[in-house]
Amino acid sequence: MRKLLYVVGSPRQHDSRSGKVADVFLDTLRQHQPDLEVDVLDLWREPLPEFDGDKAAAKMTVITRGTLEGATATAWDAITKIIDRFTSADDYVFTVPMWNGGIPYRLKLYIDTLTQPGFLFSFNPTTGYSGLLTNKRAVAIYTSGVYSPGVPSNFGVDYHSSYFDWWLRSVGITDITEIRYQPTLRTADPEKSLADALEAAKQTAAQFAPALIS
Ligand SMILES: Cc1cc2nc3c(=O)[nH]c(=O)nc-3n(C[C@H](O)[C@H](O)[C@H](O)COP(=O)(O)O)c2cc1C
Repeated sequence: MRKLLYVVGSPRQHDSRSGKVADVFLDTLRQHQPDLEVDVLDLWREPLPEFDGDKAAAKMTVITRGTLEGATATAWDAITKIIDRFTSADDYVFTVPMWNGGIPYRLKLYIDTLTQPGFLFSFNPTTGYSGLLTNKRAVAIYTSGVYSPGVPSNFGVDYHSSYFDWWLRSVGITDITEIRYQPTLRTADPEKSLADALEAAKQTAAQFAPALIS
């Protein structure tokens, strides 16, 4: 059975709109697959070490094919433990609220920690970056409170889904379904937006389920 990792990007727990959509997605999946196991990684409740100087040095040492020693070796061990949990999953659900046009900083910290040479990407001076993950699927649930696709730029600009989608693809996750719940202050019927997002979550789960057993 494929393993599913749910990465919680919102700190708002029961008030989280993206969390509500994720719950419906997961509940529907469980109806199709009652013994489904979900590894929940709440980025706001689990320890996630700072990506500090030792970790940046470790990354640059590995990229330049140097030798990890002392503090950089310790930093690299901490990074690879976090990567192992991520790469052991086959499928991912991410809740991704818009924060100041982009993604919440804990999610960015997680991305900075995960995105390491030899694990998630390789680099070639001629051909550039290549993602190393294969046969993964992701559901990205995007929420915002003011921005919505198509709004004038004084209501916000999307460095949020555009960035997150780019990151998924850059590490090799190309089977991506996005679900948006982005009612703006000007949306006439926000309840309908929620109903549409929940329906999209159910439909996505129904499409996702058959491939879980493989
Ligand atoms: C720190 C912070 C920054 C935010 N920045 C934006 C923003 O730039 N644009 C926007 O449309 N909404 C913004 N919002 C609103 C959230 O995107 C919205 O409340 C969304 O529902 C959050 O997802 P969640 O309910 O799953 O936490 C922000 C909210 C917070 C707490």
